[in-house]
Parts: sequence; C-alpha cells; structure tokens
Amino acid sequence: MYYKENPKFPKNFMWGASSAAWQVEGGVAEGGRTPAMIDLNSKKKAPYADDSICADHYHRYKEDVALMAECGFGSYRFSIAWSRIIPCSDGKVNPEGVAFYNDLINELLKNNITPIVTLYHYDLPVWVYEELGGWKSRKTVDAFEHYARTCFENFGDRVKYWLSINEQNMQIVYGHWLGTSAGCTDWEREQWDINHIMNLCHAKAVVACHEMVEGGKIGPVPGYVPIYPKTCNPLDQIAAMNAEELTEKIWNDTYVYGEYNGFIKKYWEIHDIHPDIRPEDVVLMKSAKIDFIAVNCYRSNVGCDAKPGTERKEYELNKFGIKGQLQFPNYPGEFAMDYNPYVEYTDWDWEIDPVAIRYALRYLWDHYRLPMMITENGYGANEEKDADGNVHDQARVDFLRDQIYQVGLAIEDGCDVISYNPWSFTDILSTGNGIKKRYGLVYIDTTDEELVNCTDVSKLSMKRIKKDSFEWYSKLIKSNGNDWGKDMGVN
Ligand code: BG6
Repeated sequence: MYYKENPKFPKNFMWGASSAAWQVEGGVAEGGRTPAMIDLNSKKKAPYADDSICADHYHRYKEDVALMAECGFGSYRFSIAWSRIIPCSDGKVNPEGVAFYNDLINELLKNNITPIVTLYHYDLPVWVYEELGGWKSRKTVDAFEHYARTCFENFGDRVKYWLSINEQNMQIVYGHWLGTSAGCTDWEREQWDINHIMNLCHAKAVVACHEMVEGGKIGPVPGYVPIYPKTCNPLDQIAAMNAEELTEKIWNDTYVYGEYNGFIKKYWEIHDIHPDIRPEDVVLMKSAKIDFIAVNCYRSNVGCDAKPGTERKEYELNKFGIKGQLQFPNYPGEFAMDYNPYVEYTDWDWEIDPVAIRYALRYLWDHYRLPMMITENGYGANEEKDADGNVHDQARVDFLRDQIYQVGLAIEDGCDVISYNPWSFTDILSTGNGIKKRYGLVYIDTTDEELVNCTDVSKLSMKRIKKDSFEWYSKLIKSNGNDWGKDMGVN
C-alpha cells in the first residue's frame, strides 16, 4: 500500500518515549552508584557537559512521570544503571539502587504507564572493566548474568517487557566514539571478541528472563539504519548489502537464529580473525529465543561501490552540529557511503527520511516475523527558548508526524508493531554533544555551560517546559493515532 490518509494503529498500541540511565538520571555519585566507563567517556566530550547531572531525573523522576501521564503515555522505555544495582566486584546488591528503580516503576504503574526496561545502555561499571577485564573477559558474562538475574528478581513481578543490550551493533561499529574500544590495541580484531562476549551476555539474559519472569518477554535493541543503493548499478546494490551486513544484519541474524551467519564467518576467514567461540557458547546462543525486536531508527544511509585499491576512509561523525562536517567511509572492496540527494539533513548531517522507518519495519518483519516495538526515533536539534519563554519546535512536530505516519503505513502493510517510543521525553545528554543536541518533547531549562560549572544541582532551576511537540504528540496519542493536527501533510 503506497498511501493511506489515516493509517490505523492497533487497539492497545503503547505510545510513550525513551531514555537511558546515563543520559537522563545524573546523580552519578549518589545512592551508592559507582562510576561507569561511560562517565569517563562523557568527560572527553568537552566543551559539552558530562553525565554528572543530565536532566537530573534521579531527583525529579516524579515530576517527569507526572508529565508523561499528562501527555497520555502508555509506556516508558528507560534503562537501569548496572553500577547502581551492583556497585562492586563483591556482587552485593545495592538496596538504594533497587529502591530507586522500584520507586520509578511503581510511579509509572500508578499512572498506567507500562515500563519497558533496558538492562544495558552503554554504561559498563568501571569495576567490571578494571577488575574483570571488561568486554574482553568471560568473567563479564557471569557478572552480567548476575546483574540481569538481580533485576528480574527485584523488578520482574511488575516489569514484563525487557530489552537486553542497546545497539550492540553501534557499540562495535562506533566503538571509539562510544568507548567500547577502551583498552583495545587491535580494534579490528578485538571488536569481534567483544561482540561475542556481548552476544553471550544477551543470551544469558534471554534465558534468565524466561526462567524467572512470569509472562516476561525480552528482545534485543538493534540500531537500524536502512541502506539504499546509490544507483541501480548492480555494484552499488552489492555494496549496500555489504554495508547492511557489516553494520546491522549480522547482529540481527545472530539474535534471531542463535548463530553467526555465513557472511561474517567468511569475513573472519578472509581477514584472519578468530573469535574465541566455544561449543558451549553455540548451545547457549541457540537456546536464547527472543520474543520481539526493539528497533531504534533515526535515519537512512546510501551505500555505493568502493573499488579495491582506493583510499580507505573511516566514518567520521559530525561532532559539532554544523552541517557538512560528516565524513562518509570508503572501505575498499566492501562499501562506501554518500549523501542522499532525495532527503533533507539535520544540523548533525543525519538524514531526515521518514520512509526509513517504514523500510526498517518492513525489512525486519519480512526477514524475522517477530513483533516489533520502536524504542528510539527522534530529531536532535540546536534549540532555545523563544521570547515568550516557550519552545516552538515545529521542525520536531514535522519530523515526528512524518515518521509516525510511516509507522502507521508499515502497520497497514502488515507489520506487527506494538509500541512507539521516540527519543526522548525530556532533553537529555546526547552521546557526544551534551544537552546542546536536544531531542525532548520537554525542554530542560539549562545549558552545557551551566551544567559544567554547577557545584550544587539543587540550586539549578532545571525547569521542565513543554515544547509544542509535547502538545502535538499528546493529542495524537490520546486519539490512538487519529488526531494528526491541522497541518497534516504527508510525503
Ligand atoms: C541512539 C542511542 O543510537 O541514538 C542513544 O541509543 C543516543 O543513546 C541516540 O542518544 C541519539 O544519538 P546522539 O548521538 O544524537 O545522542
């Protein structure tokens, strides 16, 4: 179906929004939480703020949940900070950490908001890195299993939707940016060992969830960026398929089929890479049957032929929000990427492509036939208050409207989609551009400069200001996707 005026969303469709502990909570040294590697990584992103305060959700979660309820949320996707629950290598559970998430979960349930909980969103505890060897060590698998089981035991009576690892593919593909490569000297090789350890952690969590959580469902969270061929040159098509394999498909195949696909096995053989995959790992991975796929989708990419012998260029993200600073990769003999003349771009050179989300849902449904939920999708922008003290983010309204419309079309196409949770509810810390790159439906009245210079968070206003997108989204979701607003215009 190409076009439908008003696509229908299923009854009981869960509308909400999404966040991650290290990007929203702050309170990094409170309640018994110990440092995470991402805290250190976030300090490398000056002049932007680090994750010490973020949106101060740790202290203001009740106010935030009240706003979610006012907006009409049916779901909220957030993550638990591993080092709040298990702060040290002795494995002891931190009661204060458990209490914080119990309070948050209970507050959500009191407001009829279904919690969707990520176990791991980039925040490896420093003790796991220093004392166990981090993602390179098999000891981390046991530590992660203990952590996951602790979460299921403490929260599984009320939390039924669980997510294992956020964007494992992006943690490997952008290992330096996200800090996954800390301590590695030969990333080209070591990334595959780390990836395997992550697969084992994911599998352990899936098995434990089914064993411990009555009625519990669990899935992975791939970051999905559809890759279109640049032209109908067959070589561009193969390049797009290579890019697809090496940035996302090999992960999705592994989650669904419980084994590495032929493409990656051959890739390892050609590049003389030998991850330590043991017979018992193969059994474990096969036994971990996921219930759904959670999808993070913001944009699309264009793949094109990269001739052998051409100069290798790495993918360089746009780090400062000034258009034109992104560098696309050229991997000779594999693939290159390029700008897409058919779409607009954000200030960070991310493609504004609503059709991408429909493509993603169609692709994943066609390949894997599992229910899906959108756990991230959103518009990161430079934003400030207007003279009237409000934030008129029409660009975000346009972005969300066009994207959600395409989700509706994907549902009309026959895809099984159960929930939509854009990134993010309030402004939060971005992975590399502080709070300056704003994603929220709710504005947090602060700046990176203020956060950097703050010595006492209780003195900051951190006022929550509902943006225009909040009001627009509220109407849409309260009508279960019927009231698009007066300016409905579809692509
Ligand atoms: C997703 C991550 O890939 O993208 C989030 O799961 C992240 O953690 C989001 O914040 C947006 O990316 P960025 O770099 O703009 O923060």
